[in-house]
Amino acid sequence: MTCPDPDRVHHGVFAIIASVLASAGIAWAADGPRSVTVEACTTCHGPGGISHGTMPTIAGMDSETLAEVLLAFRDGSLESTVMGRLVGPLSDEDIAGIAAYFAALPGADQ
Ligand code: HEC
Repeated sequence: MTCPDPDRVHHGVFAIIASVLASAGIAWAADGPRSVTVEACTTCHGPGGISHGTMPTIAGMDSETLAEVLLAFRDGSLESTVMGRLVGPLSDEDIAGIAAYFAALPGADQ
């Protein structure tokens, strides 16, 4: 691996999202989409799914709502910058499992 030429690196939020996406992609590749770890989600949505930044908190959401949102990101009926690409390789079972996981976690107000 060589470092990218700094002159050719675009600065700003998009570059940050792109680099986070790249590291999430490494997690996908290492485990395969089916055994996707929820850690990839917490990279952006905060530890335990509770966000302390501008990302939405996903912990404690209703599991059905969560699964519906993820399926809508996957089929493109819900517009997204990154989520559609992230959940693209996931199966219905992956999505159901991820939804159940974050639904079972305590939300931000608990
Ligand atoms: C690269 C950062 C990133 C990662 C990784 C990521 N998300 Fe997201 N997520 C976003 C962004 C940004 C949005 C806002 C929609 C958009 O533009 O994609 C979002 C939106 C969402 C929403 C909608 C929340 C709401 O209230 O509108 C859910 C649910 C969600 N993500 C779940 C997940 C799950 C589950 C994972 C792991 C499979 C995950 N996210 C991984 C960045 C990320």
